[in-house]
Amino acid sequence: MSSNRIYIFDTTLRDGEQVPGCKLNTDQKIELALALEKLGVDVIEAGFPISSPGDFASVEAVCKAVKDPVVCGLSRSVEKDIKTAAEALKYAKRPRIHTGIGTSDSHILHKFKATREEIIERAVAAVKYAKSFVEDVEFYAEDAGRTDNEYLARVIEAVVAAGATVLNIPDTTGYCLPEEYGLKIKYLYENVKGIHKCTLSTHCHNDLGLATANSIAGVQNGARQVECTINGIGERAGNTSLEEVVMILRQHPYLGFTTGINTKLLNPTSQLVSDRMGMPVQPNKAIVGANAFAHSSGIHQDGVIKQRETYEIIDPLEVGVDQSKIVLTARSGRAALAYRAKEIGQNLTKDELDRTYLKFLEWADRKKEIDDTDLEGIIAEARELA
Ligand code: KIV
Ligand code: ZN
Repeated sequence: MSSNRIYIFDTTLRDGEQVPGCKLNTDQKIELALALEKLGVDVIEAGFPISSPGDFASVEAVCKAVKDPVVCGLSRSVEKDIKTAAEALKYAKRPRIHTGIGTSDSHILHKFKATREEIIERAVAAVKYAKSFVEDVEFYAEDAGRTDNEYLARVIEAVVAAGATVLNIPDTTGYCLPEEYGLKIKYLYENVKGIHKCTLSTHCHNDLGLATANSIAGVQNGARQVECTINGIGERAGNTSLEEVVMILRQHPYLGFTTGINTKLLNPTSQLVSDRMGMPVQPNKAIVGANAFAHSSGIHQDGVIKQRETYEIIDPLEVGVDQSKIVLTARSGRAALAYRAKEIGQNLTKDELDRTYLKFLEWADRKKEIDDTDLEGIIAEARELA
């Protein structure tokens, strides 16, 4: 395990695609998988092959299409699932079977009507069976977020002994607080025999808006793989957002973590996923939302025009956005007006700016946003008054 390289496991095509109304066909899955490969993700979870013949075909097609990333297929701890996943992955250059079982009391008692010992036996059997097909086997302890740490450590130790290479600790219901999730990873890292030859992985859901914070807490406590999706798309409130994790690690270099992501492709990839899935990105979404680099209040606009870093911690070019936007609204000041006028080729003198600004405020109180055409009209009206 490298001490500071964080592996990005993208599950847009599996957990992300579980969003109602987000069905992708095989061609779209291939297109997105190629985009993810270009983006530099380490692992692509391409689907859940037993779930439908279409998903099987998509996983198989993704394996044929990409060459660098590991391609992963999901399965329950059920022989039929695992065998089907192995068949779907047969063309992968670097196949991984992702198998697992629920470990919280709620899963054990209500979903499986089993005992804790039986769950460990099933988990071990699943990993051993998966190992008979591929070398790289990832184990997930579903609802690990609500599983007590001592029992979780016993499950993980048993599957490590059975040959699991990656240990996924999902906060399936998005329940944990960052400190709690971080301590869970730390507890496993410090107490599970054999864990140091494996990779610990985070897989966080966003039900309380904490998926990204929990994933980072996991990394700070020993996890070296982060499972995430583009735009944070996924079940219910979604999964950890890939672009957020990558940029947090990049913007805080003193933490010492790196990823293999080409950050300039974050925005184009976000738009592609949003378009193919028919899921618009919320405008205020960090990194990839339409307003992530837009400034509309006078004080902020003045600051950004004088020096971009005053109100921006990321250079938009670094994430594939051409430039920050100065949006003209009734909250804008003279600095923003002069700046935008200059952008459309109108260098205003001080008197012109004063007159134009008064006209501008009349318009801006009537209209939410003043665009370039409006601005041309405002400047012309102000000049007529001169
Ligand atoms: O959230 C979850 O627990 C999952 C597992 C199937 C990995 O998506
Ligand atoms: Zn999940």
